Amino acid sequence: MKNKLRSQNWFGKTGKDGFIYRAWMKNQGIPDDEFRGKPVIGICNTWSELTPCNAHFRELAESVKRGISEAGGFPVEFPVMSLGETLIKPTAMLYRNLASMDVEESIRANPMDGVVLLCGCDKTTPSLVMGACSVNIPTLVVSGGPMLTGKFQGKDISTSDVWRFNDAVRAGEMSQEELTVAEACMCRSRGHCAVMGTASTMACMVESLGLSLPHNAAIPAADSRRKVLAQMSGRRIVEMVKEDLKLSDILTRKAFENAIMVNAGIGGSTNFIIHLLALAGRIGVDLSLDDFDHLSANIPLVANLQPSGKYFMEDLYYAGGLPPVMKELDRFLHGECITVNGKTLNENYAAEECYNREVIASVDNPFNPLSGVAILKGNLCENGCVIKPSAASPHLMKHTGKAIVFNDIEDFKSRIDDPLLDVDENSVLVLKNVGPKGYPGMPEVGNMSIPKKLLAKGITDMVRISDGRMSGTGFGTVILHASPEAALGGNFAVIQDGDIIQLDVANRSLLLEVSEEELTQRKAAWKPTHKTYHRGYVKLYQAHVQQAHLGADMDFLQGGSGSEVTRDSH
Ligand code: FES
Repeated sequence: MKNKLRSQNWFGKTGKDGFIYRAWMKNQGIPDDEFRGKPVIGICNTWSELTPCNAHFRELAESVKRGISEAGGFPVEFPVMSLGETLIKPTAMLYRNLASMDVEESIRANPMDGVVLLCGCDKTTPSLVMGACSVNIPTLVVSGGPMLTGKFQGKDISTSDVWRFNDAVRAGEMSQEELTVAEACMCRSRGHCAVMGTASTMACMVESLGLSLPHNAAIPAADSRRKVLAQMSGRRIVEMVKEDLKLSDILTRKAFENAIMVNAGIGGSTNFIIHLLALAGRIGVDLSLDDFDHLSANIPLVANLQPSGKYFMEDLYYAGGLPPVMKELDRFLHGECITVNGKTLNENYAAEECYNREVIASVDNPFNPLSGVAILKGNLCENGCVIKPSAASPHLMKHTGKAIVFNDIEDFKSRIDDPLLDVDENSVLVLKNVGPKGYPGMPEVGNMSIPKKLLAKGITDMVRISDGRMSGTGFGTVILHASPEAALGGNFAVIQDGDIIQLDVANRSLLLEVSEEELTQRKAAWKPTHKTYHRGYVKLYQAHVQQAHLGADMDFLQGGSGSEVTRDSH
């Protein structure tokens, strides 16, 4: 053991304090020798029946526990706030920072020497890793794994089809009865969304950062090898405690650069940007929005996965998983970065093979030479915004059109299908007040529905701009995360109907053809129209949340408090 165990500051005490710390634990039937110098490993569980993607986590935790006990550790499972993407209103993102506070304080306040984070649905990964970063004890991530590929009417389906089905129903090409049948066909097994949406992106993020054992990202939740990975992770965290291998040893600037390059190669979700910026802020790594653009710029799309490509996470696993993807990107990556198993990233993927070139292409013959994300700058959004070129339409990558402005999501919903709306396929849809402060919580509404009358003409994509986010499973020529958001009164806040907007992705520019003088006048007359909250967590959130280009974390949560707690509770 490199250092004295942190848990001995509780269980190693004599007298009244030691009695109290041990005695109540013993009501669970724990023998006395468990408390005498065994590494205590927390299993941070986001199990909840309201988070269906994580509903199998009690079983997964049992596998982790088995591994911890085998390696001579003392496992303690504890719950934290669980964020289910599909049910939580108004948006799970509103609570990412709250859940991260729960995780941070739960780890910090309790006698843990190391922790295994059980992550799955979109926000459960960043919230847990953010919280753990602010404590910085040995930490290992086990993801829940993707669902099996859905099967509907003889076709493979998954979450990206939700948007296609929605448009098909609105265009009269699919009935409500068929839609209901498709529900069970899509979600036919345990696990999270089966495309390269945000949950899969987050699982790839932790693997490429070096925070999980190899293959964590792609093993399907229903595959028994997922339990094996959980058990091996339980064994390994005990060793990590003995080696004192902490998050700050793994999460270097180079590790973050690796994650950005891998995310480009897999066509990962745009939400990756916001969550990685927030993580960097917690662990103290200097990272900016521009880093995502220049680090992604030369990386081709090698993973052929929906929504940017054709296949599903299950296919990625059968093709070899994430390690052969990273092997393809070897010439770009910092292979020397250390990972949780004590080996370097390069050592973890060097011997891996690709078994299906349809799913994982070679870097010299990629599916798409376009990188995963591009950062656009210009007078429309002074601090930048984001587009995912691999999920956009090539013919719209350079486009000029008239703005049709919706002041908030209610305005959008009430007018988008109005036959009198003056819209055509060249228009640019602009949605305001769906940013971090304005909504509040920055929901995934950026891939706005195409107007019904254009769907009827066969139009399936248009340029759309908002200060909100898009589901990682979404697609289209969708510009997101406009910063400063409309609620702050910048240029984005004063776009008006009929303004000309110029998009040029190749040149990374997004311009509003309105003079500086006119913009200054409009801003002087501007008044906020978003709803403000006066109590509870949402009040705290609205007062302190930062803008999207900074990761939308709360200002007072930047950095960490560390793991030392000097005062006793009694
Ligand atoms: Fe949980 Fe998609 S809804 S991962």
